[in-house]
Amino acid sequence: MTSNTVWHEHHVSQQQRAILKQQKPCILWFTGLSGSGKSTVANAVENMLFGMKKHTYLLDGDNVRQGLNKGLSFSEEDRIENIRRVGEVANLFCDAGLVVVTAFISPFEKDRKMVRKMAMSGQFVEVFIDAPLSVCEQRDPKGLYKKARAGEIKDFTGIDSPYEVPVNPELHIVNDGISIEEAATQVVDYLKRHAYI
Ligand code: ADX
Repeated sequence: MTSNTVWHEHHVSQQQRAILKQQKPCILWFTGLSGSGKSTVANAVENMLFGMKKHTYLLDGDNVRQGLNKGLSFSEEDRIENIRRVGEVANLFCDAGLVVVTAFISPFEKDRKMVRKMAMSGQFVEVFIDAPLSVCEQRDPKGLYKKARAGEIKDFTGIDSPYEVPVNPELHIVNDGISIEEAATQVVDYLKRHAYI
């Protein structure tokens, strides 16, 4: 319930925190099918940024669902709530002055729009990690596609739950036939080109 609460302005601003860290905070929002390489590339990007002395934090679907979002299912309603909460947390970390990297399937365009709206202007970078379903299914790093095909998991994205391809992402990376490093470099180059780092 939000009744009887008031918003307190912080004395220390995002800008001041960012200046202290010598960086421009932003949210790198990775989206894509399970097995597309979101987590792997997001990790590689965080590593590269860390090497450049940037202050970062990585939020990953599999991990967040074991803590903050424990108990949320993969129904449409729960996925929306998953993404809403992650959007809020990402925003707080961004306000703290960090470069936030998130890796969630986030299959619905309207939810990605919602988190974009939550972010400060110019601080949301949508990164579509694109690999064909057939490739993701072949990789099947967690054996989940096999289970989904066997009917052991329901509402599996790409099988019996939809993935809406991003309409206008800042970055579209075809993560098929390129190395993890090449994919991560594309993200870091984007950040350099747009003066985030
Ligand atoms: S999201 O759709 O709500 O954004 P999220 O990124 O948090 O999904 O979680 C996806 C991860 O949960 C997958 O990488 C996979 O390991 C696991 N998972 C378990 N069940 C499902 C399912 N039904 N659909 C998709 N991913 C699933």
